[in-house]
Amino acid sequence: MIEAQPSQTALRVALRRAAHQIHDEQPLVFVDPLAVRILPAEQKLEVQRIPNSKRRPYSAGIRAFMVVRSRFAEDVLAASVARGVATQYLLLGAGLDTFAYRNPHEGVRVFEVDHPATQAWKRECLEEAAIAVPESMRHVAVDFEQTTEQGSLATQLLSAGFSLAQPTVVAWLGVVPYLTLEAFRATLRFLSGLPAGSELIFDYTYPRHAVPLQEQLMMDSMQARVTQAGEPFQLYFLEEELRAELSAASFALRENLDGAVLSERFFAGRSDGLGIRGKAAHLAHAERV
Ligand SMILES: C[S@@+](CC[C@H](N)C(=O)[O-])C[C@H]1O[C@@H](n2cnc3c(N)ncnc32)[C@H](O)[C@@H]1O
Repeated sequence: MIEAQPSQTALRVALRRAAHQIHDEQPLVFVDPLAVRILPAEQKLEVQRIPNSKRRPYSAGIRAFMVVRSRFAEDVLAASVARGVATQYLLLGAGLDTFAYRNPHEGVRVFEVDHPATQAWKRECLEEAAIAVPESMRHVAVDFEQTTEQGSLATQLLSAGFSLAQPTVVAWLGVVPYLTLEAFRATLRFLSGLPAGSELIFDYTYPRHAVPLQEQLMMDSMQARVTQAGEPFQLYFLEEELRAELSAASFALRENLDGAVLSERFFAGRSDGLGIRGKAAHLAHAERV
């Protein structure tokens, strides 16, 4: 990431969540009444111009993946709360995610971690949109790549009141591909301190060589765009590699959801053609064992 610049990819994801609310047909896969409201003023206009799924199937496929991962994470949290387990929701690389400002789960505390420049910008967006910051949430500014003890995820989160003794659902959405392997492992090491029954949801991407040629070209085009934004993709996994990384941090991979499974589970029978394309993007659901 560019040190002093808010994440451009966070804005793009937020635009796609907002577009889903406006342009996709009912029933929505992910209902977010704050998705449009949190956008900066000029993007509120831009989102109106995004064409619908049938006119731009590739772009709609990316939108589908972005909305379904948020839906999935919030479903996991709701199920954990219903079982009387989770008392904390930790969003790593929160971007313009709005869950904390519409949290329906009484007693569940929300921690939003993000890169300092992105988090400062989000707080401006919240203020401009007059979205109240509830008592149940805390903003925590951390760069996952930095190595000092003082600036570390552990130091910052624990001093904000996060408890490693409380069962937690962790959503790490749209972040892992942008990290170095060292930062990924350091974050997992911290999460390994959580109690058994804690859950982790994140998306990851298969390496280029593991997908068909046509999709490789799409990955190249996406890489060119995120690199131009100063946020290149750097980390890819095959499923077995990911299982080993998780296992080293005492997590078991419970579900490894590819585009076909997600489309079947969340997008079947839609008339607007919204669904996930390609074999590279995966959603991982892991449990602290
Ligand atoms: C593509 S956005 C996804 C945002 C959000 N999770 C969502 O789904 O809307 C990537 C997020 O990861 C954060 N991020 C990327 N690299 C980071 C780093 N080294 N330290 C902290 N946050 C980082 C960015 O600030 C941004 O909020």
